[in-house]
Order: sequence, then C-alpha cells, then structure tokens
Amino acid sequence: MKIAVSGKGGVGKTLIAGGLAYSFARKGLKTIAIDADPSPNLALTLGLPLEEARDIVPISENKELIESKTGTGYPGVYRLSFSVVDVIHDFSVRTPFGVNLIVMGTVRSVGSGCTCPANSVVRALLRHLVVELNEVVIIDMEAGVEHLGRGTAQSVDTMLVVADANMKSLETAKHIYDLAAGAGIKQVFLVGNKVGSQIQEETIKEFAGKNGLTILDLVPFDQNVVEAEMRGETPLKCRESVALHVIQNLSEKLTSKDN
Ligand SMILES: Nc1ncnc2c1ncn2[C@@H]1O[C@H](COP(=O)(O)OP(=O)(O)OP(=O)(O)O)[C@@H](O)[C@H]1O
Ligand SMILES: [Mg+2]
Repeated sequence: MKIAVSGKGGVGKTLIAGGLAYSFARKGLKTIAIDADPSPNLALTLGLPLEEARDIVPISENKELIESKTGTGYPGVYRLSFSVVDVIHDFSVRTPFGVNLIVMGTVRSVGSGCTCPANSVVRALLRHLVVELNEVVIIDMEAGVEHLGRGTAQSVDTMLVVADANMKSLETAKHIYDLAAGAGIKQVFLVGNKVGSQIQEETIKEFAGKNGLTILDLVPFDQNVVEAEMRGETPLKCRESVALHVIQNLSEKLTSKDN
C-alpha cells in the first residue's frame, strides 16, 4: 500500500500520517513514512527526540549518499528503481515505534530546470518505489495542491485528503480531491479532523455530500494531542487518545480496502 496524506496547512496531516504509520508498524507491516514537507516535522511525531530529529540530513541535501547508493559508475546516470527493503537500508532512520522514516527535503519541480541527481532520486523514490504486500509507505505531503502537478503523488494508490470544519480547508480539500481523482489515483478519501462538536461534524458531512467527496472517517478533536504537542512530545504515546483510536481504525479500514 502506498498512501499519501494531503490537505491545507495545519489540518492534521502529520498527526494522521504519523498515527497511521504507527498503527501499521504495530501490526508488523514493514512501514516507511516519508516526510515530503520542505519544513519537515514528522520525526517528532514518530517519537524521535528533538536533538536527533534536528540531526537528520534530508536526502535531497545528501549528495554523497545519493551518489554512493544510486550511481551506476557512468557519470550522470543513476539507478532509479527501488525496493522498500533497499530504501529502508540505504535512506531511512529507524524511529522508536518501529517506523522507518525518510526525510525528503526540498524537491524542486521537473519544470524548474533542476537536473541535479538528488532531485531525480527523490522524485524517483516517490514514483518508482515497488511496494510489496506486507509493506506500507505513507507520505506526509506538503500543504496545498502544487505537489500534485509535479507528478510526485501520482504513483500512490490511496490519497487521504484531510480537512477540519473550516470552509477554507474544505475548499482546499475539494481542490486536492478532484486533482487526485483526475490524476487517476485509485482511492481518494476525505478525512475530517479536529471534529469537536455536532455542528463541525455536520459541516464536514454536508460539504462532502454536496461535492461528492467520500468520507473515510472523522477524527475527533483531542485535548491530549494538544497537550502532548505543547510538551514537545509525540502524541502517539497517549494511550487514552480518542483521536488516535480513530486513526488506528482508519488503518484497519485501509487494510480491508486493500484486500
Ligand atoms: N484531532 C486533533 N485534535 C487536537 N489537535 C490536533 C488534532 N489533529 C491535529 N492537531 C494539532 O493541530 C496542529 C497541526 O497538526 P499537524 O502538524 O498534524 O498538521 P499539518 O497539516 O501536518 O500541518 P502543516 O501543514 O504545518 O504540516 C498540531 O499542533 C496538532 O497537534
Ligand atoms: Mg505537517
């Protein structure tokens, strides 16, 4: 399974991507979480201490690693097809809950004229990662819609578009949803987040109904998450978190849809 999580800034992409990765890893699946946001912070959600998270060099900035792992011996020619096992071995950081994390860094668009190997490799990683049955790749996308045009997300089989009950985030979600469906992504779902009242729930459901968006689930607003983040800790450790409970359920739903 290859799942991308997208949506407007601040809606909860990182919490949901991290929570899903955690749930899949706990089930024993080989799990890679890819932080594709140019200002990455998935590492903290996955339980790495701040100092270690700061030390991660994004692969787009790690020319030597890229040369050594993908060079073919011919100048300017790179190997651009990857298995999950290779990627975990060569590029990822192991995080405390068993998820293998890859921090992409800034990926420049194909049209920008940048032909540097780091960028080709990063794009190729997203596109040509061959994912087997017992493996899951979760991509925490950059906020907004631009990345879809770049073709980095087209290779995923499921796109989760996250929105809260704010009309701006719902409008962005609709835009992403339509682009993703138009790009031929097999499964596209809306995930409501930070749902703290009946009215918020109705707003999301009504918007989805009117615009033909399928809701996978609604994640409640959870004060435990807010407080863990205030302490600079991962919210994934809060055992009594209602939000995490629903996110874990999401992972079950996705697994059953995949079969
Ligand atoms: N269900 C929830 N209940 C309470 N707080 C939440 C919930 N989901 C997310 N948050 C909080 O909202 C804030 C934004 O969440 P998160 O960082 O996951 O969003 P994002 O979409 O990844 O943001 P960005 O676009 O900046 O990457 C965080 O402080 C997070 O703890
Ligand atoms: Mg984020």
